[in-house]
This record gives sequence, structure tokens and C-alpha cells, in this order.
Amino acid sequence: MYTQLEQRGMAEPPVNIGTLADMKQKGEPIACLTAYDASYGLLVDKAGVDLVLVGDSLGMVIQGHDTTVPVTVDDIIYHTKNVARGLHHAFLVADMPFMSYTHPEHALDNSVRMMQEGGAMMIKLEGGDGQLEIVEYLARHDIPVCAHLGLKPQSVHKIGGFKVQGRDETAARRITASARKLQDAGADIVLLECVPNEVGAAVTAEVDVPVIGIGAGPDVDGQILVLYDILDVTQGRLPKFVHNFMDGQTSPLAAIQAYVKAVKSGAYPATEHCFS
Ligand code: KIV
Repeated sequence: MYTQLEQRGMAEPPVNIGTLADMKQKGEPIACLTAYDASYGLLVDKAGVDLVLVGDSLGMVIQGHDTTVPVTVDDIIYHTKNVARGLHHAFLVADMPFMSYTHPEHALDNSVRMMQEGGAMMIKLEGGDGQLEIVEYLARHDIPVCAHLGLKPQSVHKIGGFKVQGRDETAARRITASARKLQDAGADIVLLECVPNEVGAAVTAEVDVPVIGIGAGPDVDGQILVLYDILDVTQGRLPKFVHNFMDGQTSPLAAIQAYVKAVKSGAYPATEHCFS
């Protein structure tokens, strides 16, 4: 992790919340990826990724569970600490695991741990209108928040599987309205998973904060994918929005660089990665 002293000599300062807001304003796509350890933290940073998420997807790709539900706050802190040691430039976000933010004080206690013990610069939570009070409380305590909408994997047992969200007009309108309310409650970033392109575009037009998509089409402010999915490590059936960036590359670093280039140029996502 960069130190205050190192920052003084840096040609390019580390990404912060203001950098991400400026990128949205300028229309510069934000390239994001997950990471779970220091070695890959170093590689994604070196490849020019702007934002790194220690996602609770670690429950599936690191721990081998079928869902993200078993992940604990201690798991996230452990992996966030490790990733932080590899980063010099990228902005570090940590995921609040299932049931770690059931009420405002609970959310605050766990966010503080992720920031103080893990080194996260922002926390992400899966939220809709039910989390407005929590987001407002965290924002009031100066905790930067990323609100995750659309497909919320922690709700997989409630919604009956990993399914595209917002396909009908009412659901699409509900997601867009929630994004606005979460922003107004203090969310600094919206992350939108598995929705038709039109919903990605509508949410991005609705809010002023950056919108990062995963399977949300091209008309958002940035893209995020699970690192092992783009490196051809994850086995089995992959979501439609995943692209194998190892194809034609000779190293993980080259593949991650190809991903960053594709996001920045708008080449990713292509039509085959999108939902209608
Ligand atoms: O946990 C995670 O990795 C995520 C991404 C899929 C956005 O939430």
C-alpha cells in the first residue's frame, strides 16, 4: 500500500473518490476488477485498474461455496488487508458480507473494521429502499458507500437463483428510483448487476455519482468483473457478461491489461455480453 511519503513522489496520484467522480464527468470509462490477495492486487494495479473490489464473490471463487452467503466480516478483512499491500494506485473497496449490516449501528461497526483493520477506502453493500437508513447513517459518519443494485447475490435464496433483474417496466423503474434515493441518502457509487442495457442507461442518466456495471450494458460509467472469470480460472457455466481475456494473451498481467484497454476503449462489453 502506498504511504503518505511515497505519494509525494508519484507521477500520477492514487485514485480517490474525486478521481472517480471526475472520470464520470469527463466520460472516461472506469475500469474495475475484483482481487483477493496481494499478488493479484499488485497485477491489477500495475495493469491500470482504477478500482479494486474485495468482493464477497471470494466465497465462491476462493472458498468454493455455491453462493456468497457463508462469507464473514473476518474473511473480508483478511483478504482486504492482503490486497491493500499490493496496491499503489487503485481505489480499494471492500464488500459488506451477508447480514453484516442489519441496522445502522451494526453497519457502522463493521464498516469501521473494514476500513481500520482492512484498509478499505469504501464499503459496498447490497441495498435497495430497505437500506436507505443505513446508507444515510454511514454517510453521516463519513463512510464512503457503494450501493449494489439489480441482481443482489446475497438475496439468491430469496429470489430463487442468479437471475437478470429489471426486465419488466415496473421493476426497471423501481431500480432507477432506488438508485436516486440511495444517492440522495449519501451513496458515492452505484454498482448495477445483471440488468438489461436500458436499465443501465436509465440509472446512469438518473444519478450524478458513478455507475459501475456488471452485466449492465455499455451505457454506464465503468465496468467490473470477477478477476478469476476473466483469467479463465473459473470453471463451469459462466454468466453471459463474462469474457475470457486470457484468450490470445500469454500472462495474467497481459490479460488484465487487455481488459483495461477494452473497458477504456468501449470494446467491452460487446453485444454478446449484454441483456435485453
Ligand atoms: O462480490 C463481488 O465480487 C461483486 C462483484 C460481482 C461486483 O459484488
